[in-house]
Amino acid sequence: MTSVKPNDPRTDTEGERLVNAATRLLGRRITLCVSGSIAAYKACELARLLVKLGAKVNVALTRSATQFVGAATFSGITGNPVSIEMFEDAAVGESHITLSTQSDLLVIAPATADLLARLATGRADNLVTACALCARCPIIVAPAMHPSMWEHPATQRNIEQLRVDGRVKIVGPARGEVASGDVGLGRLEEPEIILHHVVAALSPQDLKMRHVVVSAGPTLEDMDPVRFLGNRSSGKMGFALAQCAAQRGARVTLVAGPTHLPTPPDVTRVDVRSALSMRSALWEALGSKLDGADVLIMAAAVSDFRSSEIQTEKLKRNPNTKIPQLAMNPDILAEIGAERRGSVPLLIGFAVETNSDALIASARSKLSSKHVDLVVANLAEKAFGLDENHVTLVTKAGESKLGVDSKSNLASRILDWAVASLGDAR
Ligand SMILES: Cc1cc2nc3c(=O)[nH]c(=O)nc-3n(C[C@H](O)[C@H](O)[C@H](O)COP(=O)(O)O)c2cc1C
Repeated sequence: MTSVKPNDPRTDTEGERLVNAATRLLGRRITLCVSGSIAAYKACELARLLVKLGAKVNVALTRSATQFVGAATFSGITGNPVSIEMFEDAAVGESHITLSTQSDLLVIAPATADLLARLATGRADNLVTACALCARCPIIVAPAMHPSMWEHPATQRNIEQLRVDGRVKIVGPARGEVASGDVGLGRLEEPEIILHHVVAALSPQDLKMRHVVVSAGPTLEDMDPVRFLGNRSSGKMGFALAQCAAQRGARVTLVAGPTHLPTPPDVTRVDVRSALSMRSALWEALGSKLDGADVLIMAAAVSDFRSSEIQTEKLKRNPNTKIPQLAMNPDILAEIGAERRGSVPLLIGFAVETNSDALIASARSKLSSKHVDLVVANLAEKAFGLDENHVTLVTKAGESKLGVDSKSNLASRILDWAVASLGDAR
C-alpha cells in the first residue's frame, strides 16, 4: 500500500497540509507548438494549465503565431525562453533537434490548416514542423480553423494521412461558434480537454483492457414534483476518479447523480437521479453475475433515505397535509459485496463522517460488513464541494493516510492501489 513519505512535496512535516498540488505532470518536459490561428490566445491558457500541473514547458511559435500572441506572454507563463526561428538559435546548435529530443511530449495547439498540410507531407520548413518530424515522443495535434477550411477535402485528406501514419493523436476540433460568428466544426478544443489528453499520453496505461465503473455525485429523492431530499456531494471526487482511470487506459462507465460537472473525455456517462435508479444503472454496468467490470468505485453519496411515497401534486403548506414518512434505501455497495463470489470486481467504497473520532472505526466496519476491498475514509467538511480532500485508505491490511491533496492527485493514488490489487489478484 502507498504511504505518505515525510519528504513528499504535497505535505508538510505533519503530513497533512497541501503545499503543492502540481504533481500529475511533475518534471515532464512538454514543448507547446503554437501556429497562426485566431485561437492562439487559448494556447496561453493551455500553457498555464500545463505549468500548474508541474510540467516544464517550452514554447515554439511559428512566425504567423507571433502575429496573434507575443513571445513575452508565453515566457512569462512558462518561465522559459520562447523559440521562433530555427536559424536564430543556430549558434547554440540545432534547436529543432534539441527541443524535440528533450521533450516527453509535443503539443501543437492550435494547428492551422496550413500546418496540417505541412505535417501530412513531412515538411520541415520551420521550427514547429522540423520539431514534429524529428520527435520520437508522443505528439498531440489540436486543429483550429474556420469550418469551411476543416471540411475541405484537402484538409480531410491531410488529417486522414496523419491518422494513417499513426505518429500523432488528433484532438478536436470542436463544434461551435468560430471567430467569424459562423457555427460548425473547427473550434480549437477547450484547453482542459487538450490537457486531459496530455495527461493521458504521459500516464501509465496500466488499466488498459480493464472496465472501471465509478458512481459519483449525490442522489436526489423526489417528494413531490418540486421538492426532493438531497445531499451536498458535488461529484468532483468520482469524476476525478473516472477521468484518471480513462487517462490510464481503462474503459470507464460513470454512473452520475445530478451534477453540473462536464463528462471527462473518453468516459461513458449514465445519468441517474435517485438511489433506486443508480442501483439499476450499476447492476446494468456490472452485469447480473458481476463479471462485466474489473473495478467498482462507489464514490457517490447515495441517499440512505427516500420519501416513502412521491406525491403527484405539490404538497400544500397546511395543517392537514400528511407529511411523507422516510423509507430506507437499499445499500447498493453492501448488496454487491454480498453477491460477489471471489475477487471480481474489486470493490472500493467511500465512508464519509462528520465526526473525525468515529471515521476510521466506521470505515473499518464498512470494510467488513459490506465485503469490500478498500474503504476511502473522508470527513464531510473536508470533502463535499471542494477541489481537495483529506483521505485515509483503509484495508484489511492496515491504514494509509494520504493527507490533504487535490481530488485529481488522490484519484491517481487510489487507482495506484487498485492497479496493485488487480495485479495481486491475477
Ligand atoms: C486573422 C487571421 C486568422 C487566422 N486564423 C486561422 C485559423 O484559425 N486557422 C487556420 O488554419 N488559419 C488561420 N489563418 C491563416 C493562417 O494564419 C495562415 O495559413 C498561415 O500561413 C499559417 O501559418 P503557420 O501554420 O505557419 O502558423 C488566419 C489568418 C488571419 C490573418
